[in-house]
Amino acid sequence: MQRRVVVTGASSGIGAATVRRFAELGWETVAVARRLDRLEALAAETGARAIACDVTDEAQVAGLAAEVADSGGATGLVNNAGGAWGTESVEHASNADWRRMFEVNVIGLRSVTAALLPVLREGARQSGWASILNLTSTAGHDAYPGGGGYNAAKYAAHAVTQVLRLELGGEPIRVMELAPGLVHTEEFTLNRLRGDAEAAQKPYADVIPLQAEDVARVLVGAFEQPPHVNQDLIVLRPVAQTSVFHTHRGELAARDD
Ligand SMILES: NC(=O)c1ccc[n+]([C@@H]2O[C@H](COP(=O)([O-])OP(=O)(O)OC[C@H]3O[C@@H](n4cnc5c(N)ncnc54)[C@H](OP(=O)(O)O)[C@@H]3O)[C@@H](O)[C@H]2O)c1
Repeated sequence: MQRRVVVTGASSGIGAATVRRFAELGWETVAVARRLDRLEALAAETGARAIACDVTDEAQVAGLAAEVADSGGATGLVNNAGGAWGTESVEHASNADWRRMFEVNVIGLRSVTAALLPVLREGARQSGWASILNLTSTAGHDAYPGGGGYNAAKYAAHAVTQVLRLELGGEPIRVMELAPGLVHTEEFTLNRLRGDAEAAQKPYADVIPLQAEDVARVLVGAFEQPPHVNQDLIVLRPVAQTSVFHTHRGELAARDD
C-alpha cells in the first residue's frame, strides 16, 4: 500500500505546511479542514485529496472516514486541527470559548481518531504499520496566566495521546505527540486575540520564532523514522525561547567567556 496520510487543519499554517512536506517526500495526502476553497488550492499545488470536514461534527467525521476508506485508505493520521480563543483569566473567561477549545482540540481529535482507527488498522494489515501524531503544544505541558482554557485543552490532548498509546499496545500503530512552542503562523494568534491584527504581531516582534515549515519538517521526520521507532513526545521550540516564560528578544549573540 502507498504511504497515505490524513492531515486535519490543513487549510492554513502548520497543517498546510505538513501536507506540502509529506507530498515532497512522496506521500499521498488527504487534506482536511472546513474551508474547501483553501484545501482545493493546496490540492492543486500538492496533489492532495481535499475533504471538507468540521472535526467537531460527528456526522461529517463519519463521512470523512468513509471517503478516506473508499479513496485509498490511510497509513497515517495527523490530528492538527485546533486553536485558542481568548487570553482571559480563569475567573473572567467565557465558558463558550472554553467549550470551543475543548470541542476542537480534544473531542474533535478523539472523534477523528476513533473514526479513522479501522481505516488505519486496514492500512497496517496491508503495509505492516500505521502512525498517529497529535499536535499539542508546550501549552499542554506548562501552564501560564491567561492560558486557562487552551492550557486545559492541550493538557487534555496530551493525556488522550498517552491513553491511546497504552490502549493500542500490541498493535503495529505508533502514537506520537508533537508539542511546539512559539510558531509564527498567519491565523493562530489572530484568532486567539479575536482579530486584533496589531496585537497579534507582538509575540513575534524582535524574535526568531519557528515557522510552520520548521514544525512540518520535524513532524514528517517522525513519520519517516523506521516504523518500529515511536517518538512518544517531541518538544520543539525556537532557540530564542527557552521556556514558556523566557523568550529572548533581540539578536542572539555568543557571550564573552
Ligand atoms: N502557532 C502556534 O504558535 C502553535 C504552537 C503550538 C501548537 N499549535 C497548534 O498547532 C495546530 C495548528 O496551529 P496553526 O498555528 O497552524 O493554526 P492555524 O493556522 O489557525 O490553523 C488551524 C487549522 O485548524 C483548522 N480548524 C479549526 N477548527 C476546525 C474544525 N472545527 N474542523 C476542522 N478544522 C478546523 C483550521 O481550518 P478551517 O478554519 O478551514 O477549518 C486551520 O486549518 C493547532 O492545534 C494549534 O493549537 C500552534
